[in-house]
Amino acid sequence: MARITAGVATSHIPLLGVAHDMAKDRDAYFGPIFAGYDWTRDWEKAEKPDVVILVYNDHASAFDMKIIPTFAIGCGERYAPADEGWGPRKVPDVHGHPDLAWHIAQSLILDEFDMTIINEMDVDHGLTVPLSMMFGDVAEWPVKVIPLAVNVVTYPPPSGNRCWALGEAIARAVESFPEDLNVQVWGTGGMSHQLQGPRAGLINREWDNDFLDGLIGDTDRLRHIPHIDYLRETGSEGIEMVMWLIMRGALGKRTAALHRHYHVPCSNTAVGHIVLRPDNGEGLDMTGSGAA
Ligand code: DHB
Ligand code: FE
Repeated sequence: MARITAGVATSHIPLLGVAHDMAKDRDAYFGPIFAGYDWTRDWEKAEKPDVVILVYNDHASAFDMKIIPTFAIGCGERYAPADEGWGPRKVPDVHGHPDLAWHIAQSLILDEFDMTIINEMDVDHGLTVPLSMMFGDVAEWPVKVIPLAVNVVTYPPPSGNRCWALGEAIARAVESFPEDLNVQVWGTGGMSHQLQGPRAGLINREWDNDFLDGLIGDTDRLRHIPHIDYLRETGSEGIEMVMWLIMRGALGKRTAALHRHYHVPCSNTAVGHIVLRPDNGEGLDMTGSGAA
């Protein structure tokens, strides 16, 4: 049986991809940001997940104003890095897991989540930057990836509550897949940021850390945050954080934090990162290391 063994969340700031690709990740500006991922890189090497369900958003690379799916799942074999204006990043192609992806698509749709199915697309910084942060410089990504794209770019994005419920449905789907697979769910994007307008550069450290706190333990308070609160408190792009709630919903009733990192700023954005386990009462540290 396939098992969800952990949840990982991270910001996906494109500048982190640039820093990584230009080997600037240990300089004075980026060093403290990347240092917060060292723990996770070692941990991922030990965990050896087979598949990552990578919840992310496309930034007008695969979709644009012509087609805006609220929730879409990649059922393809392979996805190339998208050209976002400077040529595609020179990182490996992403390999999918079509058997598990089709199983999840079927399970979700019969569970009344109306997923869009994607067989072909390129993937942008929303998906490739989290892979670089977690795995570094590699010839091949060490996991299969099922892209799960969420519309957080064009109003109206899905509610936090709907995202959490989708995570719960993803857990049911994974648990009913007969092959023995170690599966992680990643939530990406955020944290507080606004890229344009008079409030460009807005960052809300207190709100972000409270959101990180809310992912830990058995509270489900985050699922009830309305869109307007994300907008007011975390800037126009802070709504990306609803994607983290899909990851959280997939982990079940209670979680424990294994690792946590927060840094301000990177570009115009607050960097947040957390590693969670579904907590089955084995006495895990509930606070997370390196709490900000
Ligand atoms: C930035 C952050 C994002 O989430 C994004 O998609 C693009 C740019 C930024 O901070 O520069
Ligand atoms: Fe983004």
